[in-house]
Amino acid sequence: MKIKNMELRNRFIRSATYDKSSDEKGHVTDKRIELFADLADGGVGLIVTGLTYVHPSGQLAAFESSIATDGCIPGLKRLTAAVHDRGAKIAVQLYHTGRENARFLEAKGEQAIAPSFVPNDPYFIQDYRQMTEEEIWEIVEAFGDAAKRAREAEFDAVQVHGAHVYLLSQFLSPFTNRREDAWGGTPENRLRLHREVYNTIRRKVGHDYPVLIKIGVQDGCSGGLQFSEGKQAAQLLAQWGFDALEISQGLRGKAYEETEFKTNISSLDREAYFRPWCREIKDLVDVPVMIVGGLRTFELMEKIIRNGDADFISLSRPLIRKPGIINEWKSGNRHRATCISCNQCLEALRKGEVLHCAQKKAKEES
Ligand SMILES: Cc1cc2nc3c(=O)[nH]c(=O)nc-3n(C[C@H](O)[C@H](O)[C@H](O)COP(=O)(O)O)c2cc1C
Repeated sequence: MKIKNMELRNRFIRSATYDKSSDEKGHVTDKRIELFADLADGGVGLIVTGLTYVHPSGQLAAFESSIATDGCIPGLKRLTAAVHDRGAKIAVQLYHTGRENARFLEAKGEQAIAPSFVPNDPYFIQDYRQMTEEEIWEIVEAFGDAAKRAREAEFDAVQVHGAHVYLLSQFLSPFTNRREDAWGGTPENRLRLHREVYNTIRRKVGHDYPVLIKIGVQDGCSGGLQFSEGKQAAQLLAQWGFDALEISQGLRGKAYEETEFKTNISSLDREAYFRPWCREIKDLVDVPVMIVGGLRTFELMEKIIRNGDADFISLSRPLIRKPGIINEWKSGNRHRATCISCNQCLEALRKGEVLHCAQKKAKEES
């Protein structure tokens, strides 16, 4: 299986999952190497790292991974080597958190930045401000520099984070982007940041390097991005040159059901919850499409690939529960993923703990 010139040993991808295992500077630790080595040993084809900030203003929380300075490169090199030694490939997820770090920055006496300030926003009541044009260009440049560092650190690809609640989604969504200049208003203007980020990355890494994007094609909040516009955005991203699209949602609503990590995935009809979006987008683009979100049953994944609804299967929570599940499936033991989608992994991260499966931990302790 190939994405551009990157050959993968199978169609399974570990979807970006942040792990809070970096040190206070955002550098790689031994714990992080251990987490990634387990995944690579477990048989997955490509591992996408979790959130990795490209600029200090884009860091969400403490112990998050950084690629914002050259000082990050030696640790990242150790990480890519550990994955390559085990036969897997690795991409780094480049991102800026936008307004999401308002509380984190406030504690440091700084203010978060976003496309616009949204008055009376029921989803977000913290202090932040609209970015200047100069700041937008600084972030565009930071994405390019980060991609250059990624190549130097021997990542096989980069994935731009254009999904969920973060900066690129904030620009694409008409709910969070109220700008009246060339970065807001029309769908094309709201997608301008994506285009500039892509062009800058391409300029810095060359034409042979795989540049992927995870894109939120519909918001989970009211007044946000609609799928009719999101799928056109996906089509444009592929036309501009992104080498693969991972299809997810944009801004979150309040309940888990209105987010990218839905719960209660206890039956087949709750699985693969973004499949209808993938199917429509797959027909519109010539680049590989990665499906993510609630994939738990091997036979369903096979059906999705055979049906041509997606080219790659991307998993997050099932691999937190069991990093070795791909090898088990390969050996013929095609059991349903044991992850129960309780989201306690996420809750633990939010409390500052290093990534782990709460169910597995409880079982080990009993
Ligand atoms: C603990 C946790 C951390 C996550 N971190 C990221 C992240 O860093 N970047 C990202 O794009 N998505 C992140 N996600 C979302 C997943 O990549 C994925 O889109 C979502 O969980 C649905 O897939 P799943 O049902 O296989 O878990 C995270 C999800 C979880 C549960």
